Amino acid sequence: MNCVGILTAGGDSPGLNAALRAIGKTVARAGYRLIGFRDGFEGIAFDRTMVLDDLTCSGILTVGGTILHTSRHKPNRMPVGNSMVDMTEAIVANYRRHQLECLVCIGGGGTHKSALALQKAGLNIITLPKTIDNDLAGTDNTIGFDSALSVATRALDSLHSTASSHKRIMLVEIMGHKAGWLALGSGLAGGADVILLPEIPYRVEQVAEELLRRSREGKLFSIVPVAEGALSVTDAARLEELSARKEAASGKEEREAVKREIDQFWAETGRTFALARKLEELTALETRVTILGHLQRGGSPSCADRLLATRLGSAAARAILAHQYGIMIAADGEHTRQVPIEEVAGVRKVVPLDHPWMRAARNLGVSFGE
Ligand code: F6P
Repeated sequence: MNCVGILTAGGDSPGLNAALRAIGKTVARAGYRLIGFRDGFEGIAFDRTMVLDDLTCSGILTVGGTILHTSRHKPNRMPVGNSMVDMTEAIVANYRRHQLECLVCIGGGGTHKSALALQKAGLNIITLPKTIDNDLAGTDNTIGFDSALSVATRALDSLHSTASSHKRIMLVEIMGHKAGWLALGSGLAGGADVILLPEIPYRVEQVAEELLRRSREGKLFSIVPVAEGALSVTDAARLEELSARKEAASGKEEREAVKREIDQFWAETGRTFALARKLEELTALETRVTILGHLQRGGSPSCADRLLATRLGSAAARAILAHQYGIMIAADGEHTRQVPIEEVAGVRKVVPLDHPWMRAARNLGVSFGE
């Protein structure tokens, strides 16, 4: 019997189960056996499996998360006891033992790098783009983005009445460390007047000035979506300096040390709270912070995500049956497109400053705090 493997890796997204279902049902009809590997790449490294047949794929279309579970561990850095171990050889061995024709990896940026590494180790790979951040290159959009956008937009909608009652500034922290698609999209859909993005370092004085201007015009409250990775010009300069040091590092040890500093930089929490305090100081306007966090990744997938996951999943199944490998199945308008994995692995799609959403925002007078 023809046999293929599948796994979901990285942060979960609504729509993953819809994709598993579309692939599972389609290949089952062609007489294929589909083995699900649990917990991301750990499943194939440690052989934790579950059979995904027509029955197990039934009833999961509307269920959020992933029935396979997920993890962020990479094939070449897996926790075993107290150490991190390169499990690539074990993964290749399990792939061969199960006599897989190919391995389908559903995930975001990190998953695509891992998938490419496994392809180079000799595995036939097909990927599907999934991340609520929408920051994968080569595809119009990614599974999970639309659902997260709806959650974030609904949150902005709800905050309007309380912001208005108390005449407050509401900073709303929205997921996205490196790309601002969610903050921009929900900000536009939710009628925000100031939006802070990772792509545009902001000047806090400029943000304050914008809020005061609104206040002078009689607009007594403001809703400000702030992407997790939005940085002040000072912090952005600090990050740039660290990145330059990493590039210039002479050896592996030095590079690893700077990398740890960069990780620490991103692990620093409370930037949005610090911004709120500063804005209160500069404007004398009461300011509150809402952190949406993992709510944005939870719940049932939106209709758009169910459709996207179903059509990408069905195209992936067609590629499996046609023995087409080394590709990501991308969304291309109403169609799908096969993109070589090496063209997308390691390439982040940030918001272009001339993107139509940016142009619309600027036409409406939205400020990005530059
Ligand atoms: O998967 C993407 C993402 O949701 C980012 O937007 C967010 O910064 C990150 O994951 C959070 O990761 P974790 O769930 O591992 O805390």
